[in-house]
Amino acid sequence: MAHFDENAKPFSKQWLDDRLAISTVMKVLNTEYWIPKNINFLWAMGMILAATFGILLVSGIFLLMYYNPSTDLAFDSVNYTIMTEVGYGWLWRHIHGVGASVIFLIIYIHMFTGIYYGSYKRGREMIWLSGMLLFVLFSAEAFSGYMLPWGQMSYWAGMVITNLFSGGSLEAYGLVEWIRGDYVPGQAFLSRFFMLHVLLLPLVIIGGIVFHFATLRLPHVNNQDGEEFDFEESANLWREGTVESRKASKVIPFQPVFLSKDVFVMGVYFILFFYLVFYNFEFAMDPVNFDPADGLKTPAHIYPEWYFLWSYEILRPFSKDMGLIAFGIAQVIFLTLPFLDRSPVVAPASKRGLFHIWFWLMLIDVIILTFMGKLPPTDEVFALTGKIAAYTFFALWIALPFITMTEKKK
Ligand code: HEM
Repeated sequence: MAHFDENAKPFSKQWLDDRLAISTVMKVLNTEYWIPKNINFLWAMGMILAATFGILLVSGIFLLMYYNPSTDLAFDSVNYTIMTEVGYGWLWRHIHGVGASVIFLIIYIHMFTGIYYGSYKRGREMIWLSGMLLFVLFSAEAFSGYMLPWGQMSYWAGMVITNLFSGGSLEAYGLVEWIRGDYVPGQAFLSRFFMLHVLLLPLVIIGGIVFHFATLRLPHVNNQDGEEFDFEESANLWREGTVESRKASKVIPFQPVFLSKDVFVMGVYFILFFYLVFYNFEFAMDPVNFDPADGLKTPAHIYPEWYFLWSYEILRPFSKDMGLIAFGIAQVIFLTLPFLDRSPVVAPASKRGLFHIWFWLMLIDVIILTFMGKLPPTDEVFALTGKIAAYTFFALWIALPFITMTEKKK
């Protein structure tokens, strides 16, 4: 070995470094991981997501100690044992419920920040793709978790969503039953969603987050102006260590400088988070799900959690086959963004002409779809608004390459 200090005391800094290259790892991931100065609080969303995922893991582990994954006992183990018998069980449940809901709000803010600043282009495509992979994984994680209390909404949302796999006119005989492990959601269904929620999906998500971080390392994060500059040159200015050179440098090291900013934004976030946990947790819990699952009593209006409403609304206005296709496309269309945006310009949307309008239309459209998805489809005005919003969604995606091509010519 090249630099091996035989005299180093066991477990001293040098001894560990010789064996684990800790100082090199710390440099690559922390003290020499350069972050542009020109970014705002929206760039803290990634770390907030990682922290919220950590909280979901810890609270999930506590809930798991008393949860019972059987169709006879699941409902009571959550609503009675955990909520009333176990010390602070209610607190872990509120933290888990609020965390699951809030993480989607932050994911959407993080995604739309990326879209606004063009952070998915010019070498950052893999960041975007790995982010979208995480989005799909978190959606599956949230859906499988929603099944576990085995309330009315768990049962019927499970029924409706697994029904999507009946394949419309394709008549994919047996597929739905294969997914459910039965003709209707039952014990096999609950057991497999339990396994997915507590084991397989969290493992894959952890892998996905590591991959997302790895994709960030080489292209570095974007900045508010989409400015390309020589990171190494700026890093050298920082390393010089004088007040002037550090002022002139366009970057700061992740640790300790940037991290302290991240921790500040995270502090503000956690004040709001725990305010919700203690005083406003109801928004994260559907009242219908406080009735135990009953396969003979269909709820009047079945709808998913708020974060799935926009894509659910895209499914509703179309006939069965078209609805299914539209829903499928809506789930993955954001993946294609780096390839449908034909412009090489990396800049905030406000400086990108037509794309600026595209961005706001898309955001407003997704918000309208979300509201319409919650309302009963029986009202004609709401149904029509939902339909127009669903068509607008696809029209915007079709228009995107053409809008961005003109930008290229300029
Ligand atoms: C849910 C788990 C996720 C975690 C833990 C996570 C974490 C992070 C972190 C720590 C950063 C660097 C700091 C920042 O820009 O905020 C980042 C950047 C980024 N993430 Fe995520 N992310 C997640 C999901 C997503 C999703 C769903 C997308 C969208 C498809 C996405 C797209 C991006 C992009 C494009 C960047 C680069 C931003 C830039 O260069 O300015 N991420 N992510």
